[in-house]
Amino acid sequence: MDPNASSRRFPSSNRLKGKVAIVTGGARGIGAATAELFAKNGAYVVIADILDELGTKLADSIGGRYIHCDVSKEKDVESAVQLALAWKGKLDIMFNNAGIGGPGGSISNLNMEDVRDLLSINLFGIIHGIKYASRAMIAGKNGGSIICSSSSAAIMGGLASHAYTASKNAILGLAKTTACELGVHGIRVNCISPHGVPSEMLMAAYRICLGRDDLTPEEVTQIVGERASLLRGRGGSMEDVAQAVLFLASDDSGFITAHNLVIDGGYTSACSHLSSIYTFSFQG
Ligand SMILES: NC(=O)c1ccc[n+]([C@@H]2O[C@H](COP(=O)([O-])OP(=O)(O)OC[C@H]3O[C@@H](n4cnc5c(N)ncnc54)[C@H](O)[C@@H]3O)[C@@H](O)[C@H]2O)c1
Repeated sequence: MDPNASSRRFPSSNRLKGKVAIVTGGARGIGAATAELFAKNGAYVVIADILDELGTKLADSIGGRYIHCDVSKEKDVESAVQLALAWKGKLDIMFNNAGIGGPGGSISNLNMEDVRDLLSINLFGIIHGIKYASRAMIAGKNGGSIICSSSSAAIMGGLASHAYTASKNAILGLAKTTACELGVHGIRVNCISPHGVPSEMLMAAYRICLGRDDLTPEEVTQIVGERASLLRGRGGSMEDVAQAVLFLASDDSGFITAHNLVIDGGYTSACSHLSSIYTFSFQG
């Protein structure tokens, strides 16, 4: 059996029946897979992205709504939340997923404009999302679930650029502090930390690092499965991440807040270089 064969084979169920969700960065990649899974589970989904054509097409196909929303712009995020409220009168789930990779290179040569640009999306975009989602959820008096995209790079050094790593680490702190404040309103705030999912973002990085324009997602999944997963041969997929987000969005995770759900095949939890110690027993 191919351990990575999972192309959108989501069984339909109703774990989010009647709930209203916003997915930022939902036009493609992990966000798109999650938007689809949310809709299959009975949610009304607003896709907020800057890729208008892709986002509109996906929203139409899942009975959702699309809004052009650059998460670095506070007004745009406010408008996305307003759209959910105008459409269905409430907001139950906010998936702050939009993010960008890079800039790479040495810390000693970092271009600070690039760093600011990245933080304005990866960090400020998430602050905007929590700010306006929590406002709507508090007013709705029915709790809510906010999920933020961090990364395996926030847990272990050496997996991504400095600016990206800093942004993803900051998100972990932000989720904890906002979970602390918002818990009294029944609003949960959690993070996910994906790893090695062959999205456009990861493919672009791998193509540069390996100097191969013709690299395929299957090859990247294979590389991750062999070199960056404790589950030997098993790399991560968009669907793996979407299922984890669904869990945090649904009432199944009702007692979980301020948590970081790591989806990395165990990679950041152990060093397997010495795993030969498990193949024989020590005496004395
Ligand atoms: N792919 C991985 O292995 C991996 C690992 C760890 C974390 N992540 C995180 O997952 C999230 C989704 O990334 P992905 O891997 O699916 O990559 P992706 O590039 O396929 O998707 C990113 C989405 O965000 C959107 N976006 C970018 N800038 C935006 C902005 N200013 N406003 C609104 N939308 C914007 C893009 O248009 C795109 O739809 C990101 O936050 C990323 O950091 C991914």
